[in-house]
Amino acid sequence: MTSRIRGFNRLPLVERRRALATAVGLPPADLHALAADGLPAELADGMIENAVGTFSLPFGVALNFQVNGRDVVVPLVVEEPSVIAAASSAALLARAGGGFTADADDGVMIGQIQLVDVADGLAAVERLWRARPALLDAAHALTPGLCRRGAGPRDLEVRLLRGSNEAPMVVVHVLVDTGDAMGANAVNSLVEGLSPLIEEVGRGRACLRILSNLADRRLARASVRIPCAALARGGLDGEAVAARIVQAWDLAAVDPYRAATHNKGVMNGVDAVALATGNDWRAIEAGAHAFACLGGAYRPLTKWAVAERTLMGSIELPMAVSTVGPLATSHPRVKTALRILGSPNARELAGIMAAVGLASNLAALRALVTDGIQAGHMALHARAVCHAAGARGAQAEELQQRLVAGGEVKLERARQLLTAMARSA
Ligand code: MEV
Repeated sequence: MTSRIRGFNRLPLVERRRALATAVGLPPADLHALAADGLPAELADGMIENAVGTFSLPFGVALNFQVNGRDVVVPLVVEEPSVIAAASSAALLARAGGGFTADADDGVMIGQIQLVDVADGLAAVERLWRARPALLDAAHALTPGLCRRGAGPRDLEVRLLRGSNEAPMVVVHVLVDTGDAMGANAVNSLVEGLSPLIEEVGRGRACLRILSNLADRRLARASVRIPCAALARGGLDGEAVAARIVQAWDLAAVDPYRAATHNKGVMNGVDAVALATGNDWRAIEAGAHAFACLGGAYRPLTKWAVAERTLMGSIELPMAVSTVGPLATSHPRVKTALRILGSPNARELAGIMAAVGLASNLAALRALVTDGIQAGHMALHARAVCHAAGARGAQAEELQQRLVAGGEVKLERARQLLTAMARSA
């Protein structure tokens, strides 16, 4: 199994699917599924209320990834033209240093129970803390399925906060390992089931009972070491490029205006894998940005440094993902995506997603500190514009070249050029 498929992007679509199937050993059924409608209407109807149809996005694969010594082809669903090309090119650079190292914590989520109308906050905290073993026993009894699978409640934390009117609020955190599931339903059922007992012991009223998307007990990490020489680009030697990448990172480290864009580049890759694998990308986004603020200021999710002629990058972020559940069993495209990834468990998937986030960030920074990103973006954008203008096949390729050369990548200009090409043909 290899994630290096030479000339993949130049193959016609049908042959590209075949090359993918051969490279990752996809069964013929998946090959057919890739060619068919992504989501049958009756399945969509069962998924949400008031469904009236489905909505498609491009499903592609990033190549060249090596994670913990294993080649992995990464499925991504994304509308932005450059995301897959960028991730694949950064993964190729990473190969020069042995690829990415990645790992992730157990699937521990936090369920919050907010206790209000508490007369004496400190006394409530103390009573709840003393009752911790009994509360944990009750939590185990409420999650027999998780416990049978070796997951389940792990611990309990009690916090005392003050609301805006200074009234005490006691917040109980139930830490639950949800295994290979994202765990929202399991956690929410547990905190709802446990809250009467919490009310009794804490002598207050349970207001909110819901999981926290700041899943900071479920972090994924990835790192990469790239010999500087591999980073040379646009007439700049690799060491200069590496030094500029660190300078660019430094702005994100001190400036939230830049950190937001820096992290958006990270999430380009992470979200696209989340979508392809049927995961809740809003939860992942919320967790990532809240985590980026944990130190009191909004920070970049990655770190870059240079030592001994090597560029070293790392990333750490919450990654509450699932490889089981309704979508993983019923959505044809999600099933194919998981098979392309080699059927990982949730922790393995989380590690891969962290590596893809780091790769997306590296590709963006390298482009930004050398040629700028517009050259690559515009070439890919031109392809979409040519298609929208009605050009196909060889004609589209010629139109794309003319459009980019003219520097005006606009639909109107594409239509004019297309008409001129048709007249002179
Ligand atoms: C665009 O989708 C993402 C970038 O803006 C990320 C970055 O600036 O680091 C290129």
